Amino acid sequence: SLSWLKGKVTLYNYQGTWCNRMFLEGVNSAQQSFKARPSDVFLCSHPKSGTTWLKAIVFAIITRQKFDEFNTPLLTTMPHDCIPSLEKNIEQILENRHNNSCVTPIATHLPYNLLPESIRASNCKIVYIYRNVKDVIVSFYHFLCGIHNVPIEDAPFEETFDEFCRGISGFGPYWDHISGFAKASLERPGIILLLKYEDMKKDPTSNVKRLAEFIGYPFTPQEEKQGVIESIINMTSFENLSNLEVNKNGLQKVERLIMPENRLYFRKGKVGDWENHFTDEMNEKIDKLIDEKLGHTGLVLK
Ligand code: A3P
Repeated sequence: SLSWLKGKVTLYNYQGTWCNRMFLEGVNSAQQSFKARPSDVFLCSHPKSGTTWLKAIVFAIITRQKFDEFNTPLLTTMPHDCIPSLEKNIEQILENRHNNSCVTPIATHLPYNLLPESIRASNCKIVYIYRNVKDVIVSFYHFLCGIHNVPIEDAPFEETFDEFCRGISGFGPYWDHISGFAKASLERPGIILLLKYEDMKKDPTSNVKRLAEFIGYPFTPQEEKQGVIESIINMTSFENLSNLEVNKNGLQKVERLIMPENRLYFRKGKVGDWENHFTDEMNEKIDKLIDEKLGHTGLVLK
């Protein structure tokens, strides 16, 4: 693992995917015990691609009849505590299913090939959010510094960049993650919705609308007239969420694991921060890798 982390993190290769020990147990148990139900919706992502934002938006979409922007659990609860993650909250998910309480949707960082067989064999809807790899690397780098309390000046960016490019990062290789979902989305039209972080930033209205329709909660013309989409966008915006007390000073509620502070999931929320971190050489190297590894997907990733 990265030398500047001084042995604090060891990644294990689980059937081609890099994972730390904390998550391995959850992944194993999800694979063995989780059974998808037809009404499930899965929110999938490579870490640092907008998972927290997607969870907040989906939560707001599905609870909009009950809550508005002045009265929503999102004001006091971190999005990760509103929507569970398969590998992180597997015990809670299995228990809730056993008690027949409904926990849908469910998020996961697992790559497509490691999703429990019952998910891949079902027609459950899958939403995959992806993001320009350059910003993913920068976000990942700052997240690692934050979790392990390493000052930026003691953490060489270049080493993190090189390891990431080689595919070594939590739930990586990034390349396989994104191409796995891109391929599956072509093979299974209507089952997998690909959403791009940058598109959501540029045009949140049509993307939120598309997302709501896809997961079976379309907006009525009356809701659209009343500005419900705009209110969901405002409620889940980086500016709004990152300024809430729970997201500034709170901690996630996960029994088995020690989780990063909530504030670390809200850094800048911008497109293009890579320009402040990459040398020309790094940029050339990554552009080449994008072409080589992801050119065949047809996705625009630069
Ligand atoms: P940056 O580090 O570039 O700021 P994930 O949720 O998958 O871990 O991804 C974290 C990234 O999403 C971070 O990116 C974080 O700031 C950004 N993010 C979190 N909430 C967001 C929101 N509401 N809108 C846009 N970006 C958000």
